[in-house]
Amino acid sequence: MTTPTPLIAGNWKMNGLASSLAEAKAVAEGVGTTSVRVGICPPSLLIHRMTEALAGTKVLVGGQDAHTDDTGAFTGDISAEMLADAGAKLVILGHSERRDAYRESDALVAKKVLAALRHGLEPIICVGESLEQRKAGQALEVVTAQVRGSLPAELKGKAFAVAYEPIWAIGTGLTPNNPQIEEIHGAIRETLTAMFGEDADKAPILYGGSVKPSNAAEILHAREVGGALVGGASLKAEDFLAIIRAV
Ligand code: PGA
Repeated sequence: MTTPTPLIAGNWKMNGLASSLAEAKAVAEGVGTTSVRVGICPPSLLIHRMTEALAGTKVLVGGQDAHTDDTGAFTGDISAEMLADAGAKLVILGHSERRDAYRESDALVAKKVLAALRHGLEPIICVGESLEQRKAGQALEVVTAQVRGSLPAELKGKAFAVAYEPIWAIGTGLTPNNPQIEEIHGAIRETLTAMFGEDADKAPILYGGSVKPSNAAEILHAREVGGALVGGASLKAEDFLAIIRAV
């Protein structure tokens, strides 16, 4: 059993201007040569400038979504090839905000994963249940079905991460307790092993949803938690660094 190298990734969502590059540089300076893998996924327009600003540092830059196709008549969309061309190494796919606002299905997310793999991007594939689903006792079933539907067989042997993000915990300040996180992460790990065999042991399972400096250490030490996908608290270098240091 290989233990995955922890990954802490920041999802800036639709936040950040050129002036925000200073925060990213402060993160890069603060992490130094940590053994934790660190990523920042800014809005697409900042990706190129951020990769230049962070060249030679430990911090990887990533996109927040990518189209299934490489080129074509898709007004407003951005392809995985374009992200890679701009210097991105990571890409978040299937975030619940996209599954919800843009009706992204598991099948669509799986196609996006294939696009990421074609261009050498490491996908961070998000899954997570709604509050109604959790209350109805369906969290495990929903999340494992999302893993099976959103991760194509072609991921075998490739670098990727899964992020468990309960929708009710995103941006709300609410978090599941560690036994709840461990139950879902354990089920995701079993599903990954069933799908990809031991090859998937290297894939970290991140937790996401209201991770902040005050709760990071506790969450990051839960069983099978291989890092975090951090929204709001990744926007300030000081908070993001505190989370990285809590690994
Ligand atoms: P949050 O967002 O940390 O602000 O809750 C997490 C996410 O949506 O990835």
